[in-house]
Amino acid sequence: TVFEATCTAPVNIAVVKYWGKRDTSLILPTNSSLSVTLNQDQLHSKTTIRASADFTSDRLWLNGIEESIPSNNRLVACLRETRALRTEMEAKDSALPKLAQLNIHICSENNFPTAAGLASSASGYACLVYTLSQLFQLPLDHSDLSIVARQGSGSACRSLFGGFVAWDMGEKADGSDSKAVLIEDEKHWPDLQALICVVSDAKKGTSSTAGMQLTVKTSPLLQHRIKDVVPKRMEDMIAAIKEKDFPRFAELTMRDSNQFHAVCLDTYPPIFYMNDISRSIIRIITEYNKDGVKAAYTFDAGPNAVIYAPKENMAEIYAILSHYFPGHVFDDSLSLLKDGASVAALPENFDTRISTVFAEGSVKQILHTEVGDGPRVLASQ
Ligand code: DP6
Repeated sequence: TVFEATCTAPVNIAVVKYWGKRDTSLILPTNSSLSVTLNQDQLHSKTTIRASADFTSDRLWLNGIEESIPSNNRLVACLRETRALRTEMEAKDSALPKLAQLNIHICSENNFPTAAGLASSASGYACLVYTLSQLFQLPLDHSDLSIVARQGSGSACRSLFGGFVAWDMGEKADGSDSKAVLIEDEKHWPDLQALICVVSDAKKGTSSTAGMQLTVKTSPLLQHRIKDVVPKRMEDMIAAIKEKDFPRFAELTMRDSNQFHAVCLDTYPPIFYMNDISRSIIRIITEYNKDGVKAAYTFDAGPNAVIYAPKENMAEIYAILSHYFPGHVFDDSLSLLKDGASVAALPENFDTRISTVFAEGSVKQILHTEVGDGPRVLASQ
């Protein structure tokens, strides 16, 4: 017999950023964080896991290419944790099939359009752990599972839920209170949407894992952020989300992205994730917001922008971006903008003196998406 489960899990984009670990092997953060889960109809990881007595070793394929399991400590930790839980269940109930001792084959792929340059570790590890929990029928809720996914990649813990998700940093040394909690689900704020601007699809520069450790070691600004900024910002952000107060949500999001990149610059030697195109997107959104906040930008550990905005502003924002960055890939998802997508006019009063620098390329692709749900089970037997 072959036991098998297939699941998908979504991408999440933080609006209060996680940056810094207090424990690098358990992946315990130096501050709490908060993210928005994006619709997995557009972006997801999909994982199938099979367990069989015929398999002679554990094996893993990522996007069709076999990867080594033993050299990946984080993957090993996720397998060890879920198997330990299954072993306990089997010890208590002798009628259960002995799955914990079987070798497994894991196949995982991302549907991200042509190397969107988006971090795939969050959806990838969330999907791995969720699929293992289905295969092993683990009696755990999503917060419990987030504790396991966190040990694969910190940001992965937040992809166990849809909607608006906090990662409580916790204080215990064993990490048992460092987990994801749902703030509001994906139905709470249907008006909030996102545009992903792919500036570069190249994987280059400093990885988040290495970058944040250098920041912890060298940046005094990070200490100020951890102690004096994030605790209050988490409270404010949760209130803004609960009240669906877009201007407040947007300001907090942009301030937090700015501070994260300031902390990177304060790292010694400094780390740069944004490029000239990223900075021109900041200037464009700032100009767009001059008479009232209508959009928010945020940048992770790379130059790509994610723009959050109410649905009604999306066609206008798309028109502005197309004006400055013509020739990007017109993705199918943009048909969501319908008529708006063809609007080429800038808003009245829009100051067009913003200069954009094309030395490092342009916006290559724009994806339109919205707030989405948590992991889905496609098949389990
Ligand atoms: C800038 O979760 O990729 O996207 O825990 O080392 O795997 P590891 O790091 P990772 O870091 C994500 C950093 C970020 C901010 C965020 O998602 O909160």
